[in-house]
Amino acid sequence: MDKDLPLELLGPLGCGVQTGAGSILLALQAGPGSSVVVFGAGGVGLSAIMAARVAGATTIVAVDLHENRLSLARELGATATVHGGDDDIVAQLRGLTRGGAQYALDTTGNPGVINTAIDALRPTGTVGLVGAPSRPLTLPPSALAQGKNVRGILEGDAVPQLFIPQLLELWQQGRFS
Ligand SMILES: NC(=O)c1ccc[n+]([C@@H]2O[C@H](COP(=O)([O-])OP(=O)(O)OC[C@H]3O[C@@H](n4cnc5c(N)ncnc54)[C@H](O)[C@@H]3O)[C@@H](O)[C@H]2O)c1
Repeated sequence: MDKDLPLELLGPLGCGVQTGAGSILLALQAGPGSSVVVFGAGGVGLSAIMAARVAGATTIVAVDLHENRLSLARELGATATVHGGDDDIVAQLRGLTRGGAQYALDTTGNPGVINTAIDALRPTGTVGLVGAPSRPLTLPPSALAQGKNVRGILEGDAVPQLFIPQLLELWQQGRFS
């Protein structure tokens, strides 16, 4: 890294930021015009939202239980937010993504949330999991018949020596902040 960069800001790049951003850009490879739903707007989820904007996703939805985090998600690139306590989350997400998301990322590790993420995908969509599920995960068989994909992601599939300098360059250009 360039020695002039503010070291105090760079620490989180090595884990949470790399994981969130890499999940979208490298693992899921969300592209221009795609729809992305991120469950959990903490360090990992907010990094995923910034990356979805970099990728050119045009529908970026954040789901969280805390309004302040949803508000930050909107500042960082979410085009819509949904409260995780709502009864009709799947219907809201299907409406916002015109029938279901192409990509979802779960950062909560909550099996109920993961099943909501699967339900909210369109056929052939993919959900990435970064949080270790707190209980055994039961997948709805119908999801597999619809070609939906569920995949675990470690550190965003990133090679840190390559990916962190790329994130820093995007940040210096004002495109990842
Ligand atoms: N796989 C990896 O390589 C990797 C790397 C880094 C972090 N992680 C894991 O990723 C997870 C997320 O990390 P983080 O730093 O963003 O955590 P965090 O606690 O900052 O964020 C989690 C967010 O999920 C939200 N949430 C919890 N329950 C919810 C629900 N039912 N509906 C909607 N939102 C809900 C919380 O309000 C919070 O904002 C952790 O489990 C962490 O261990 C994995």
